[in-house]
Amino acid sequence: MARLSVNVDHVATLRQARGIDEPDPVWAAVLAEKAGADGIIVHLREDRRHIQDRDLKVLRQVIKGRLNMEMASTEEMIGIASMVGPDICTLVPERRQELTTEGGLDVKTNLEHIKDTVAQLNEANIPVSLFIDPEAEQVKAAHMAGAQVVELHTGAYANAKSEKDLRRNLDAIEDAARLAAKLKIRVAAGHGLNLRNTPPLLNMPEIEEYSIGHSIVARAVFVGFEQAVAEMLNLVRQSAPPRPPEPPKRRL
Ligand code: PXP
Repeated sequence: MARLSVNVDHVATLRQARGIDEPDPVWAAVLAEKAGADGIIVHLREDRRHIQDRDLKVLRQVIKGRLNMEMASTEEMIGIASMVGPDICTLVPERRQELTTEGGLDVKTNLEHIKDTVAQLNEANIPVSLFIDPEAEQVKAAHMAGAQVVELHTGAYANAKSEKDLRRNLDAIEDAARLAAKLKIRVAAGHGLNLRNTPPLLNMPEIEEYSIGHSIVARAVFVGFEQAVAEMLNLVRQSAPPRPPEPPKRRL
């Protein structure tokens, strides 16, 4: 059964739009856990456009499940992560002008830098996930960087405009998930997922965890946070059982 981690950044986005203290992403996180979510995710961006340092610290004290801190690979963020101690850090690329995290981390091109960040976080007892596009080269680079987890970027799949495009992106996710599992890297997936486009991914037992934010927060406006989380959780729990081991090759 796959796990669901809920990204509460968008609750903070709403708060920051008014510059006051509500709605509180910590409150959302508590409701998400109450509804059964396995973990909470926040992205502490360099420009602090939504989640603030206070949110991360309070979440660390309040939530009972896994706290995943998304962050850029910078000295400042490594320092904050080492101090706060999330259960896992997800390294993501950051560009100030983007609306959300637009592409995966280019681990292949920045291998030495990312490897060094993974080592520093591991040294602080924090496992590391790399948010990458579903490409074999990036999965192999993540392996070389020593990552414990890869989170496969599902944005291109979620935005596919034709049946053919959809199929191609699904196949890419499946191939990348299988390769990662073969390399003994755990697999998560996220970005742009909702109640409609998540079901085809559930046939991929390598995906152990889904990281979902926007669609849950959007639905929560109409049905409430707990119900929105419960609906997604219900779906994610229908993931496929592990693939049976491949039969040993017979010698002729
Ligand atoms: N995973 C990562 C690494 C992200 O940066 C985001 C967006 O903040 C998500 C998952 C969640 O994406 P969405 O908000 O589209 O569900």
